[in-house]
Amino acid sequence: MNVTRNSQYRHIETHRIAGALGAEVSGVNLAEDLPDEVLGEVRTALLENQVIFFRDQNLSPARQLAFARRWGEIHLHPFMVGMEEHPEVLRIVKTPSDKKNFGGSWHTDQMFSPQPAMGTILYAVQAPSVGGDTMFTSQYLAYESLSDGMKALLADLKTVCVGDNFKKNGGKSRKEMYSRQMSHMQVKDPGDVQTTSVHPLVRTHPETGRKALFIGGHVQHFDGMTDEESQPLIDFLMKHSTRPEFICRFRWEAGSLAFWDNRCTQHYAVNDYPAETRIMHRVTVRGDTPF
Ligand code: SIN
Repeated sequence: MNVTRNSQYRHIETHRIAGALGAEVSGVNLAEDLPDEVLGEVRTALLENQVIFFRDQNLSPARQLAFARRWGEIHLHPFMVGMEEHPEVLRIVKTPSDKKNFGGSWHTDQMFSPQPAMGTILYAVQAPSVGGDTMFTSQYLAYESLSDGMKALLADLKTVCVGDNFKKNGGKSRKEMYSRQMSHMQVKDPGDVQTTSVHPLVRTHPETGRKALFIGGHVQHFDGMTDEESQPLIDFLMKHSTRPEFICRFRWEAGSLAFWDNRCTQHYAVNDYPAETRIMHRVTVRGDTPF
């Protein structure tokens, strides 16, 4: 592990896990009500590293929710049914009988919403003995490494992002696909909640002011273009934005928690533990309208 200690912190330590993004944070017990000063340092760590990880936490769904609420309003998933006692908490379960896993493609959370999730807080209840890692990619680096010509081409493009993406699921709805392949995940009808949204392809992070590519698996096509016209550029941008040098990979243990900034990252849950069970609790915090 590449260990760096940042002297600006008084309460926490951060240990970078990859060159591009990602740091483990120590010195924090998330089950406690964190003083504002400690929370401020955690915010700085998130903004500096884009995704931060905490080990050996002991968090009930209620405590995880209490931590999440310190960051803003909770973003309820329009399609996924949450826990009975805590509908804001999504229990992500994959057992040996499931072929697919939840989040097993590059994406950024709830990109199909008009105000996509600012952050996601994912807690491991049960991790496989091997496998089941999550990968993250820096969308700052993805944007910054493009040529000036490509940046100019992308500057005014907008994406149409779809929550129930029939095209990507081989014609199957989210409900059909999940009931066949992810039997523990319950899908609901979103009702009148908006699940298709148009966003800028290049967004400015509202807190850091840095520009990031805003692309992921929910992008169906560019606004004003056909699927066929859009697909080659989407393919290039997905390939480019997930280059190995832009990525970090996190190995879960029970009690680990990841907090990622959806405004400048994509993530991918690796499905490589066919004979084991993985159980996670996820809460998403509402973001603002991308610009
Ligand atoms: C997700 O995409 O939110 C789930 C990620 C994971 O389970 O690792």
